[in-house]
Amino acid sequence: MDERRQGTRFSSDAEGAGARGTAVNPTDERIVHFDTSPGYDVHVAPGLLSSCGAILSDTLGRCMMVVVSDDTVAGLYLPAVHASLEDAGFDVIDYVFPHGERNKGLDTLAGLLEFLATHRVSRSDCIVALGGGVVGDLAGFAAAVYLRGIRFVQVPTTLLAAVDASIGGKTGVDLSAGKNMAGAFHQPSAVICDTDTFDTLPPELVSEGAAEVLKYGVLRDPDLFDRLPHVMHADRVDVVARCVEHKRHYVEPDEQDHGARRFLNLGHTVGHAIELCSGYSLYHGEAVAMGMACVARSCERAGEARPGTSERIETTCMALSLPTRSPYDAAELFAAAASDKKREGDEITIVGIRDIGQCFLRTMPFAGLEDFLVRGLGE
Ligand SMILES: NC(=O)c1ccc[n+]([C@@H]2O[C@H](COP(=O)([O-])OP(=O)(O)OC[C@H]3O[C@@H](n4cnc5c(N)ncnc54)[C@H](O)[C@@H]3O)[C@@H](O)[C@H]2O)c1
Ligand SMILES: [Zn+2]
Repeated sequence: MDERRQGTRFSSDAEGAGARGTAVNPTDERIVHFDTSPGYDVHVAPGLLSSCGAILSDTLGRCMMVVVSDDTVAGLYLPAVHASLEDAGFDVIDYVFPHGERNKGLDTLAGLLEFLATHRVSRSDCIVALGGGVVGDLAGFAAAVYLRGIRFVQVPTTLLAAVDASIGGKTGVDLSAGKNMAGAFHQPSAVICDTDTFDTLPPELVSEGAAEVLKYGVLRDPDLFDRLPHVMHADRVDVVARCVEHKRHYVEPDEQDHGARRFLNLGHTVGHAIELCSGYSLYHGEAVAMGMACVARSCERAGEARPGTSERIETTCMALSLPTRSPYDAAELFAAAASDKKREGDEITIVGIRDIGQCFLRTMPFAGLEDFLVRGLGE
């Protein structure tokens, strides 16, 4: 069996619990407030889908709710969300599109915008994005541009969307020239994360999110890093809430992505080059894990990282079923990075690693990336 497909498992003894409307134990709920414009709360707890109507009626007041989802997630969780919103007194309509990154494009966006107009959705109404990062990015972008901006709520159902895509206000769609090439910054009015929805994730999608969890550990949470992978099974509310707090640390002071937010690219510069070389056949999380391991080895060989750091990262990646060795060499990755449509001129900023929990930004001439890669990929 392909090793990457084994992934990391969440225990699944409560399969479908979110859809069945598990009661919320308030002591389990964590709320993380974002002081952005507008500000918003991220609610994290098991069983929250059945409470989303009550949570949102406090936040939003009376309005029409448009629940946007993909066909996979809709089959699992749309009835619970729709019923909860209706029970709380909202008028609710649903828009479902086929799942998958290939549907995060202009055609689906146009279909959704026409649907909103046909149903006379007004500026006081609200979109609810129920799903993974594809649904969140697409529905969020529709909310950003429809009538020059209406409110939207994120209800992430993948670990990746919970710890990364649903927070921070980046929305967008793919163009044929590349991923996320058209988009807008648009902050949600609330984020509601029901951790029971992870029960139905296939293992490879858990590993996708685990790579971002690992990233936060390396960036600024040695305690979380040391408890991986065990904590992923033992306390998912704490894992998600901590990661949301870590992302907040970078995005709150830098809503438009000009400064601190760049730390979130740890492992991603090399990871994007690996994804490009693979023609996107590798998972994003796999490429990011390989990218982080490459950066750690490069920094260690340059004498910048504490000895043993790269081995610790590689061991934890393997425990999370994430690969650490790029199948492509430095020349191939450098060529891919050079052709990246999002490349910013003649310089590149790399997130370097000093130790677990201590990273730094280094801006260097673009040509310097090749030596950096050679150091990181050599045996
Ligand atoms: N806006 C941001 O800041 C940001 C950050 C990171 C990633 N992203 C974007 O996020 C996307 C990737 O997110 P993703 O991995 O969540 O992808 P996704 O939304 O495509 O979800 C992956 C698959 O899992 C299914 N799924 C979702 N929840 C499920 C559940 N609970 N049980 C079973 N199946 C479920 C979906 O139907 C889909 O087929 C990319 O488009 C990426 O560009 C955005
Ligand atoms: Zn990522």
